[in-house]
Amino acid sequence: MKDFPKLETERLILSAVTSEDIPQIVMYLQDKVFSDFTSNIPYPYRKEDAEYWLKLSREAFENHKGFTFAIRSKDGKLMGAIGLHDEGSDRAELGYWLGIPHWNKGYVTEAAKAVIDFGFRTLKFNKIFATYFPHNPASGKVMEKIGMEKEAVLKQHLKKDGKYYDIPLYSIFRASL
Ligand SMILES: CC(C)(COP(=O)(O)OP(=O)(O)OC[C@H]1O[C@@H](n2cnc3c(N)ncnc32)[C@H](O)[C@@H]1OP(=O)(O)O)[C@@H](O)C(=O)NCCC(=O)NCCS
Repeated sequence: MKDFPKLETERLILSAVTSEDIPQIVMYLQDKVFSDFTSNIPYPYRKEDAEYWLKLSREAFENHKGFTFAIRSKDGKLMGAIGLHDEGSDRAELGYWLGIPHWNKGYVTEAAKAVIDFGFRTLKFNKIFATYFPHNPASGKVMEKIGMEKEAVLKQHLKKDGKYYDIPLYSIFRASL
């Protein structure tokens, strides 16, 4: 795939993240909750963090290892991001975040359904999985709403601020299409 794909849903556009999105990304990721709920978003979040993330996302796409979509409203404004990362064995990890003003309106569920469909039909993954911290039940709810099933709880799998967390693992398979 030469050009980064663009997906459309009823309310959203999912397309490549660009350097023009950086101020919006930095603005949204100022809240510490993003660091608390993920293993890869730093706090405080600076412009350099967004630039580095954009660079990694571009390289991953060029190396066929990852697809990071901006979640946009129909007017093109970035609201968040969602991505699939190739983990080998036709398996990809799904990750996402959304700016706080847009929470609980079903946006990530809508975006994730489109990305999973793309992951199975176009990228030919066999399995897409996702994990979340137990103190972030909204993310677990998204996984259930997009048809994933709980496969396991990974005991003391992640360490954050000196504490070990049991991490639920959810997955969905191409056969579910
Ligand atoms: C997790 C996140 C992506 C969800 O995005 P969203 O667009 O608000 O999700 P949706 O609206 O599609 O679904 C959220 C669901 O969680 C539910 N929910 C919200 N807070 C909840 C809570 N404390 N306990 C249980 N369910 C909760 C909502 O009611 C909704 O379910 P419903 O549609 O049945 O009412 C967003 O909160 C976020 O960006 N969080 C910070 C980053 C993050 O956690 N990323 C994921 C890391 S695994």
